[in-house]
Amino acid sequence: MPASLRPGDWEVPLDEVIYFDNAATSWPKPPEVTEAMVRFLNEIGANPGRSGHRMAVEAGRVVYEAREAIAELFNAPDPLRVVFGSNATEALNLVLRGYLRPGDHVVTSSVEHNAVMRPLRALERQGVEITVVGCAPDGTLDPADVLAAIRSNTVLVVLNHASNVVGTILPVAEVAAQVRAQLIAPLPAPLLVVDAAQTAGAVPIDVQADGIDLLVFTGHKSLHGPTGTGGLVIGERVDLARLEPLKRGGTGSRSEHEEQPDFLPDKYESGTVNAVGLAGLTAGVRWVLKQGVEAIRAREEALTRRLIDGLRAIPGVTVYGTLDPARQTATVSFSIAGMEPSEVGLRLDEEFAIMCRVGLHCAPAAHRTIGTFPTGTVRFSLGAFNTAEEVDRALEAVERLAGDTRRRTHSARRMMHQAGYEQQGG
Ligand SMILES: Cc1ncc(COP(=O)(O)O)c(C=O)c1O
Repeated sequence: MPASLRPGDWEVPLDEVIYFDNAATSWPKPPEVTEAMVRFLNEIGANPGRSGHRMAVEAGRVVYEAREAIAELFNAPDPLRVVFGSNATEALNLVLRGYLRPGDHVVTSSVEHNAVMRPLRALERQGVEITVVGCAPDGTLDPADVLAAIRSNTVLVVLNHASNVVGTILPVAEVAAQVRAQLIAPLPAPLLVVDAAQTAGAVPIDVQADGIDLLVFTGHKSLHGPTGTGGLVIGERVDLARLEPLKRGGTGSRSEHEEQPDFLPDKYESGTVNAVGLAGLTAGVRWVLKQGVEAIRAREEALTRRLIDGLRAIPGVTVYGTLDPARQTATVSFSIAGMEPSEVGLRLDEEFAIMCRVGLHCAPAAHRTIGTFPTGTVRFSLGAFNTAEEVDRALEAVERLAGDTRRRTHSARRMMHQAGYEQQGG
């Protein structure tokens, strides 16, 4: 029997599904990812960094390979500066809750995900000051506005690398360069925290060249790893004594002490790591490195151009963002006049087997910025495995739905017109 998707009472062969929800999590994964995870479970299995037997040593090697792969992809100064956790949300909580103290000031943008805004709003209640710099309605950010928001107590600048709503890429390297150039010693420049959940593996990132102090990544989107993987690259400017761990516990190291180790990565990695997930993540990152991030980006840019141009040509469809694939990721938000995003999403799924995400995408501030709050948008997010043919099929589907709403509106107007006519006795 062919693999198929069978939610409820309808069935679609998996190879006919159009998966446009890669900004939520990528699918399918390269086969190497599954193979690496199965191999770990069947042949390695042990707890990394705990026991000294050969299976545990092999498990530890698998985890170290994941650090090496991430360090290579982002040009981290040392694989030991890669700290793993369960996702980007956990890494962001580590940074924000571990670094900020009452009286500190943070600058962030108006297109951040709730993984940034919710911890920040909670910290605000404890006395941390926050400035949210407004982005333009297309999601773009002017580095000068970030610079203008910096005060003497600003310790972090926290920016999305790309919006998960409209895909707009923020100028993080320019912000880093300008912030450091403007600030004069003895005032230390604030650290730059970049939430690369939407760009890691899809847009080139070099933490050293780009001046990123803390890079947050998630493993299950464009790095093609499984869910339950993610983490942080900690730059050399970060004061580790100040950055508190999110949790404390067993690390397999310094077991004679009841105090948390103060060295990397153990300070921030308590409890058994997701070794099977990291085996898969290494395979995903190696797959990305083999393709080349530039090549993945070029391919996704071409598909995004096809999608944006096609959507814009459909009457009744509004596309949000820069409308320029060179300035955004492969995430495209749009709406159809006269049809709620929830209805569009349901019909795309049920009638065309197109999987996408509608609504507010855990980023209400971003929707306020682009003017689509509280209704939200329909979001198509393409990935490394999507094709031009799938884009064309999706465009046909959107055209059909937009045509339906036009016909609906037309007949509603005709009925109202007739009713008015009758009331006038015509
Ligand atoms: C910009 C952004 N930041 C953070 C996250 C959180 O990622 P995770 O769910 O892996 O924690 C997401 C997830 O969609 C995101 O798009």
